Amino acid sequence: MCPDSTTPDKLIQDIKRFLEREREMYGDFSIELPVDELDLEEVAKVDETTSNSEESSDHKPTETEEQETSAETKSLPERLEACPSLEELRELCAEADVLRTDLEGTNLVFGVGNPNADLMLIGEAPGAEEDKQGEPFVGKAGQLLNKILAAIDFDREDVYIANILKHRPPNNRNPKPEERERSLPFLLKQIDLVDPKLILCLGKVSAQTLLESDDSLKSMRGKFHNFMDRYELLATYHPAALLRHAKWKRPTWEDVQMLRKRYDELGGKP
Ligand code: URA
Ligand code: URA
Repeated sequence: MCPDSTTPDKLIQDIKRFLEREREMYGDFSIELPVDELDLEEVAKVDETTSNSEESSDHKPTETEEQETSAETKSLPERLEACPSLEELRELCAEADVLRTDLEGTNLVFGVGNPNADLMLIGEAPGAEEDKQGEPFVGKAGQLLNKILAAIDFDREDVYIANILKHRPPNNRNPKPEERERSLPFLLKQIDLVDPKLILCLGKVSAQTLLESDDSLKSMRGKFHNFMDRYELLATYHPAALLRHAKWKRPTWEDVQMLRKRYDELGGKP
């Protein structure tokens, strides 16, 4: 964790900083051990011995040793930051307890589609069918989504589909703010790796999370938003909402036509 910690005090500072970073990213719950319960003096002693012997013996770690150390000691945020591919991100997500909800035994629903898509769709959270199959939007809402995509000349395979949450919440309740917060760094990495030209947020939870807003969907939809100075983002109604409220079909239709037009203007892959 701290190859350059030369004194016990420095080591303790490094550990505290590490834990604070974790807390910023994942909230309090991920630190099950309060800092004072860590036996910092023992850790410091070991470190002192190691650094002394390093000074005297001039031992340089071998490449294998360095690899082992980095795999063992890199924090999750560091591994996430360095993650080079969707495959590896999927593995990281599979290991990440911070992505779990309080529903036990759920499967990871990572994302699906063209890894080089120019259009990325982001929903809210997996439901029962998605959890079962490990794939987003495969239930009733997913079937409607496929029809919406077909209406603007996309196959499901052309685009990339993910959710804000990667595990199903109990009783399909709305994702809690802290669940969204814990998931977001993983989703942002996923967006970065797909690197689409356009993002379509499906529903209020998705749009509010990415736009960091409490606005209504009605006020967010119908226009492109700048997202991270790199992507154009459009929000529209969630297909599940359309199944309950037919009056939202017309504005959704307008939104997705606008999306298709912009996709073509930007030279999106045919
Ligand atoms: N609703 C969502 O938001 N995502 C899914 O994957 C399925 C339903
Ligand atoms: N309100 C929501 O919560 N979601 C929608 O998709 C539309 C309105």
